[in-house]
Amino acid sequence: ADTLGAAAQRTGRYFGAAVAAHRMSDSTYMGILNREFDSVTAENEMKIDALEPQQGQFTYGNADQIVNHAIQQGKDVRGHTLAWHSQQPQWMQNMSGSALRQAMLNHVTQVATYYRGRIHSWDVVNEAFADGSSGARRDSNLQRTGDDWIEAAFRAARAADPGAKLCYNDYNTDNWSHAKTQAVYRMVQDFKSRGVPIDCVGFQAHFNSGNPVPNNYHTTLQNFADLGVDVQITELDIEGSGNSQAEQYRGVTQACMAVTRCTGITVWGIRDSDSWRAQGTPLLFDNSGNKKAAYHAVLDVL
Ligand code: XIL
Repeated sequence: ADTLGAAAQRTGRYFGAAVAAHRMSDSTYMGILNREFDSVTAENEMKIDALEPQQGQFTYGNADQIVNHAIQQGKDVRGHTLAWHSQQPQWMQNMSGSALRQAMLNHVTQVATYYRGRIHSWDVVNEAFADGSSGARRDSNLQRTGDDWIEAAFRAARAADPGAKLCYNDYNTDNWSHAKTQAVYRMVQDFKSRGVPIDCVGFQAHFNSGNPVPNNYHTTLQNFADLGVDVQITELDIEGSGNSQAEQYRGVTQACMAVTRCTGITVWGIRDSDSWRAQGTPLLFDNSGNKKAAYHAVLDVL
């Protein structure tokens, strides 16, 4: 196969990219998207502040531009994200307690219902654990509504769209020996043992020289998969260039390919210039849309 999507499909996997609605008038960008990727994630357009800017008033225009294009092109859509401490609209940032819990669950229900049948996987909850060695939940307005907010969000999402795979998504969960990784692992283990509906774990995979791809990445993915969930690499980018960047991309892709339940990889943008970390040139296509060494390394091992 000579595209990322077609190559991934040979083993039943997908290969996706984060897409920004405001770039969809760029023909180079759209040419690469349509040719190479068979899954899309909205980079910002399906976050809480974008979809519910005023409480109870939903604005789906920019998200629909991305979702409708993907579906017309036969691509899957990863929904990102229903519940998160960040990119909340002002009204939600100001809320707490049972009013916030209700508002969060209403958001999950409304959005998952609106997109029912069109979403391959939802990032139901994003980034709910703390960094560092505590293994604790991240403090946030949502966390302060009670420890069970995550499972409540998953149950609401399942009721609204029984056909979507429901994922927990986070970063710094790549290294198996990291406390945060262990804490997420125990939550998923607990959810599976109590029948809380969870189908997948997303690994954001934002790597750079200070946060390199760990040697035990395959172990991490396999251990989560062994809990009975799919694993997905959901926001991959690796700062760097040339062969060293390419070899890191090769390693991540090989780790996914070695885990039967690693069902897909999404890169967090298309060209380096499209990246949220553009200075780090972390993606598979250069600013002009040419394939980088990292692209060829990924395609080689898919
Ligand atoms: C980032 C987007 O790429 C930026 O455009 C935006 O300004 C901030 O959010 N983890 C996530 C993503 O789950 O939603 C974030 O996306 C990157 C980190």
